[in-house]
Amino acid sequence: MSSQTPQPLCYGSLRLPSRWHLSPLAGFTNLPFRRVVREIGGVGLATTDLVNARALVEGSEKTFELTETHPTDSPFAVQIFGHDPQVMRDAAQILEGRGVDSIDINMGCPVDHVTRTGAGSKLMCDPNTTVVRLVRTVLEAVRLPVTVKMRLGWDETRITAPRFAREFEQVGIAAIAIHGRTRAQGFTGIVNLDGIRQVVEAIEAIPVVGNGDVRTVEDAVHMRRVTGCHAVSIGRGALANPWIFRQLVEHETTGSYGPPGSFDDRLRLLLRQFSYLEERHGSEKAVVRFRKMAHWYAKSMRVRASLRHRLQIAKTREEFTSAVEAIAVAGPRGLDRSGLLPAMHVAVPSGPVERW
Ligand SMILES: Cc1cc2nc3c(=O)[nH]c(=O)nc-3n(C[C@H](O)[C@H](O)[C@H](O)COP(=O)(O)O)c2cc1C
Repeated sequence: MSSQTPQPLCYGSLRLPSRWHLSPLAGFTNLPFRRVVREIGGVGLATTDLVNARALVEGSEKTFELTETHPTDSPFAVQIFGHDPQVMRDAAQILEGRGVDSIDINMGCPVDHVTRTGAGSKLMCDPNTTVVRLVRTVLEAVRLPVTVKMRLGWDETRITAPRFAREFEQVGIAAIAIHGRTRAQGFTGIVNLDGIRQVVEAIEAIPVVGNGDVRTVEDAVHMRRVTGCHAVSIGRGALANPWIFRQLVEHETTGSYGPPGSFDDRLRLLLRQFSYLEERHGSEKAVVRFRKMAHWYAKSMRVRASLRHRLQIAKTREEFTSAVEAIAVAGPRGLDRSGLLPAMHVAVPSGPVERW
C-alpha cells in the first residue's frame, strides 16, 4: 500500500485529510479527546458520540453539548440515532444549521435501550423499505454529506449489511461505515473481515469504512488489503494509542512510522485533555468528568494501583494536581519512562447484549 499514491478520500464534496477515522466511543471520544488526538495528527474524520435525534429536536441542553466542536476539530460528523424519519430529518436540519461537516446515521448500536425503540442496529432488521425511506428523508432535507454506520446485521442468520449498503448508495448516501460484527455478537469474537468485504463488493462507487479490532498500523493495512475498504475507523485502538492516526499517515506516505507516545508524552496529553475539559466546565466538574478517561490514561501509562486510585478519587483541582504530580515522579511501574509502553487492552461491556 505504501508504494501507491493514495487517492484522496471524499464524502460527496467533503474532502477528508486522511482515510483513518476516529470511531465514536460514547463517553470517551468527546471534544477534549478529539482535540488532543487531532493535535497529534493524522485523523481523517472524527464523529461525536451517538446523539438522540429526538432530544436534539426537543432542544435538550445536554444533547447539544455532545455536538459541540472547535476549529481544530475539523472535519467532524455528528452521529444521530432514532427511528422516526421526520424526527431524524429535523435533527439533521438543526445540525446543518449549526455548520457540522457531515451527519452519520447510527444503525449499529446494540444496546437494548436503543434497539427497543426501533433505533440503532434494530433498523437493520427492517424487512421492507421503511429504513430506506428514513435515510432518503434525511438525505432530501440537507445538502451536507450523510453517512450510515452499521453492523453486519442482527445475527448470523440475518446479514443485511450488503443489501442495505447497496440500497443506501442508490438513494445518495456518501459513505458506509461497517463494524464487522453482528448485533448478537456484541464485542465478542474477532472482527469478520469477510463480512466487511461483502459490503465493499455490494457497493459501486462510494467509500466503505472498515471497522473493528484495529489496534496497530499492521491491523489497519491488513483490513484494507483483505476487504478492499477505502478507509478504516478506529475506536478502542485510539484510546490505547492516540498516536495511531499519525503513525498510519506516516506509514502510508513513507513506509515506516514512529513510536507511540512515551510515559511523559501521555502525561502531557492527559494534562492537555484535562485543561480543555476545565476550560469548558470549570475545575470541579472537570475533575469528576475526567475520571473515566483518567482510568485509561493511567492504565496505558502503567501507573501503579495506589496512584491510579488517588487520581480516581480526586475531588478538587488541588487533589487532582497532586495525584498527577505523584504519578509524574513515580514514572511507569517497572519500566523506563522514555521507552515503549506495552500495548493496552481496552475492555468492553460483556455478557448478553440485551442486558447492557
Ligand atoms: C464504550 C463504547 C462506546 C461506543 N459508542 C458508540 C457510539 O456512540 N456510536 C457508534 O456508532 N459506535 C459506538 N461504539 C462502537 C465503536 O465505534 C466501534 O464500532 C467498535 O468499538 C469496534 O471498533 P474498535 O474495535 O476499533 O473499537 C462504541 C464502542 C464502545 C466500546
